[in-house]
Amino acid sequence: MKALLLENIHPVAVETLERRGFEVELRSAAMSEDELVAELPGVHLLGIRSNTTMTARALDAATDLLAVGCFCIGTNQVDLPAAAARGVAVFNAPYSNTRSVVELVIGEIIALARRLPEKTLRMHDGLWDKSAAGSHEIRGRTLGIVGYGNIGTQLSNLAEALGLRVIFFDTADRLAHGNARRMRTLDELLAEADVVSLHVDGRPGNAGLFGAEQFAKMKPRSLFINAARGMVVDDVSLREHILSGHIAGAALDVFPVEPKAQGDEFTSVLRGLDNVILTPHVGGSTQEAQEEIGWFVAGKLAGFALEGRTELSVNLPAVQAPQLSVGSRIGYLHVNVPGVLADLNAQLAEQGVNVSAQYLATHGEQGYVVTDVAEPLTEAAVASIAEAPSTIWLRSWSA
Ligand SMILES: NC(=O)c1ccc[n+]([C@@H]2O[C@H](COP(=O)([O-])OP(=O)(O)OC[C@H]3O[C@@H](n4cnc5c(N)ncnc54)[C@H](O)[C@@H]3O)[C@@H](O)[C@H]2O)c1
Repeated sequence: MKALLLENIHPVAVETLERRGFEVELRSAAMSEDELVAELPGVHLLGIRSNTTMTARALDAATDLLAVGCFCIGTNQVDLPAAAARGVAVFNAPYSNTRSVVELVIGEIIALARRLPEKTLRMHDGLWDKSAAGSHEIRGRTLGIVGYGNIGTQLSNLAEALGLRVIFFDTADRLAHGNARRMRTLDELLAEADVVSLHVDGRPGNAGLFGAEQFAKMKPRSLFINAARGMVVDDVSLREHILSGHIAGAALDVFPVEPKAQGDEFTSVLRGLDNVILTPHVGGSTQEAQEEIGWFVAGKLAGFALEGRTELSVNLPAVQAPQLSVGSRIGYLHVNVPGVLADLNAQLAEQGVNVSAQYLATHGEQGYVVTDVAEPLTEAAVASIAEAPSTIWLRSWSA
């Protein structure tokens, strides 16, 4: 099978796919829709980043395409429903940059506590201003993490290793890591934290989560960090609380409105404030994260093409099937209507096939069932099952 990887995807993706037997073609540029239409026949796996748009027309031309790997976090460059309707799986790497975000936040906590942004600015201006005033160690300080998911929990572990005391608030039930303490409400956390760091997700209800009321409830001279989503914070209120001195410093990596293109002007009410670190949404942008993304997405593409595994697919029903190590497997993507599973199993029984394991998931209008069997099905048996009107595709693999 052939994989085409566009947009300078990390070489580890090539290695991963070649090791699993794929022929890999690597291109540095993105492709236009017309180029995709011309190039995709004969391609089984396509790897893209954010500059290639996968439209319904490109998908129609891609008659051999099994899956698209977005070697990035976002997937809005792909027409996901159109891909699902054609049975093409789409994968991304939502968590491969977790560590990068956490390291940035740790660095910012220390930088803000030592007032490094203004110290380095003064040095560049030629001013030697040696003073311990307003500079603190972070050891023994309390870090309040709002949103204790992938990033929040990893931050919790690293922060404790540095001697911070960690408290957290999450709307979902989350297990406390290490010695971290769960707060029952956001207000409780705000009353106790010396540093508040936001790591909530982008659900619509989180818009404006942090405004004048929340800043006022933070401890005097506390620090504030947002590397989650720009829309979560009211930047005007933050500015007022920094100017009044209530907030002693802040680090922002995300903004309600971010420039679209490289080199565009960044406008924000937070520009020009003392002890404020502003970064252009680079929390997850490291070479290591790129490598991790390359490895992760390539693995998902290979797992789908060679074993029918869809876990973490963003558009097909996500079936958690184990690695195929013995026997054979049938993957059956179908329209989600009652009776499909019963019909499939009746057909298998009729063929005398012994099922060793079966996994099912549904997602919207589709269902996907993975069936592990001891002996491979004959081509005739596969063809007979695939005849059902609800079939989108039926594939089989052997270990
Ligand atoms: N700056 C960057 O470059 C960068 C990179 C990666 C991720 N992110 C952002 O970081 C954030 C966290 O990512 P993640 O992978 O840890 O997500 P996650 O989904 O694993 O965790 C989010 C957590 O927030 C909790 N939550 C949601 N709303 C809440 C609320 N109002 N109050 C308290 N808890 C709430 C959820 O229950 C969940 O536990 C996301 O917004 C993501 O977009 C930013």
